[in-house]
Amino acid sequence: MGNIKFGVLLFLSACSFINAETFTFPNSFIFGAATASYQIEGAWNVDGKLPSIWDTATHRQPSNDVFDGLTGDEAALSYYYWQKDIEALKNANLTMYRFSIAWTRVLTKNQQVNQKGIDYYNTLINDLIAEGITPMVTLYHWDLPQYLQDIGGWMNSEIVKYYEVYADLVFKSFGDRVKIFITFNEPSVFCDHGHNYAEHAPHIWTYDSVGGILCSHHVLLSHARAYRLYQEKYLAAQNGKVGICLNTGFSYRGNGSVPQDTVERAIQFYFGRYTNPIFSETGDYPQVMRDAIDQKSKQQGRSFSRLPTFTAEEVQMLKGSADFLALNYYSSGMVYPISFDPTIDPVHHDSEVAGFSDPDWKVARSSWLYQVPQGLYDLLNWIRTKYNNPDVYISENGWSDAPLTIEDHDRIEYMRLHLAAISKAITDGCNVLGITVWSLVDNFEWMRGYDERFGIYAIDLNDPDRNRTPKKSVSYLRNVTNSRTVEAENDEIFVVKVYPMPAE
Ligand SMILES: *[C@@H]1O[C@H](CO)[C@@H](O)[C@H](O)[C@H]1NC(C)=O
Ligand SMILES: *[C@@H]1O[C@H](CO)[C@@H](O)[C@H](O)[C@H]1NC(C)=O
Ligand SMILES: *[C@@H]1O[C@H](CO)[C@@H](O)[C@H](O)[C@H]1NC(C)=O
Repeated sequence: MGNIKFGVLLFLSACSFINAETFTFPNSFIFGAATASYQIEGAWNVDGKLPSIWDTATHRQPSNDVFDGLTGDEAALSYYYWQKDIEALKNANLTMYRFSIAWTRVLTKNQQVNQKGIDYYNTLINDLIAEGITPMVTLYHWDLPQYLQDIGGWMNSEIVKYYEVYADLVFKSFGDRVKIFITFNEPSVFCDHGHNYAEHAPHIWTYDSVGGILCSHHVLLSHARAYRLYQEKYLAAQNGKVGICLNTGFSYRGNGSVPQDTVERAIQFYFGRYTNPIFSETGDYPQVMRDAIDQKSKQQGRSFSRLPTFTAEEVQMLKGSADFLALNYYSSGMVYPISFDPTIDPVHHDSEVAGFSDPDWKVARSSWLYQVPQGLYDLLNWIRTKYNNPDVYISENGWSDAPLTIEDHDRIEYMRLHLAAISKAITDGCNVLGITVWSLVDNFEWMRGYDERFGIYAIDLNDPDRNRTPKKSVSYLRNVTNSRTVEAENDEIFVVKVYPMPAE
């Protein structure tokens, strides 16, 4: 019996070996890891740091609605243990670190410099560079100063001026050593979840997506102003690059009757609202979005459109305002058309598209995270053909599991398949320069608290020293950076069964 079983196993593994393909990475491709200030730093009220909207959200009484009522007050305590983060990067043989600066640490309410905040990031940046690790700095990863929320935050056009002051300080303070800046992380998430349906800080509910739409509009203008400021004031001396981090999945036809147009609408409304103004030849919002929201606003009897317009000057300021696209990719979905109904999910009713996931796809601990590596491959090619092949960093990509899962085989599989998808896209000609995996260490996963862990290093919240324990994926990443290859089978990558994207 034992021998028969053994024989079958041998046969099966021989088969998978025969079908596996080796995917390689060019020598210039960079492997790194990512974090964000509120999710790791702790020290929420130390050395002059002001409260952010996430401090407000997690300190709401009698209890906040974060899973288990937890907060980022301590998290991974990286404000004190940044050296452990650098050790973790070195030990995984990673050469890029994407982290974010807390706006609330570096500026006072009167818009004066808080030197202790600047000192913290100076030390982190200097120590990274001393270890040969390239810093990639995000300016805004969701932690808006509460005093700016009090005047309307991203829904108030005055925010553009405040953001420009902050960006100026960041470029001036760190740009002599930091050569890759990201203005914003995932505006579609913090705008929609924070300002349409009160799921994230600042927990605002607005009728008919008006809050999310205004937020996106002012984020785009803030991004462009910061980009132009860098070009005019810092580029000559610092010679760095400035981009924006956008997230999306790819969309597939929900069934054979779903028109291809629905797929395109889904991508344009979610992703194109930011990429079209910045990366397209024409600039401005996607026409399909302009037309739909203008027409629906009229239909509702409004005297002006819910979607604001950019002036001709603003269209020009936005067009080409990124040296690269930082792309966060986690998952993809199937879409189908629905008809306009303002009483349903406000994000989808303007696009008239709804989505679902194939129940056969493997799902992470996070209920929204299905393993669809094909989506990353198709998305990279969509970006290449749509926007004349911009430089792209995969600035986030990762898998969640239960706390303290050290033997993280599912994460290794997810990384292997997504790296294979990236390698395949590079072979097609996509300019993908590197990846910073999400995340370096277990951290505060927003409304999910500490229940969904994304780190390649585990953190035990009962350990006051917050030691970073390598999960098995650290050893896997070391192997990948050493060999610059991954092995995968095509049918592990191409999991969208029924109706793949037809050629353009
Ligand atoms: C396929 O999608 C169309 C358009 O949404 C829908 O009308 C139809 O019921 C769907 N068919 C099946 C078999 O799910
Ligand atoms: C890394 O490579 C070593 C040597 O080939 C191997 O023993 C180990 O299993 C690999 N680790 C992982 C996680 O794949
Ligand atoms: C570490 O990564 C570098 C660059 O990717 C690679 O050349 C080197 O072989 C790796 N070292 C080890 C020990 O894996």
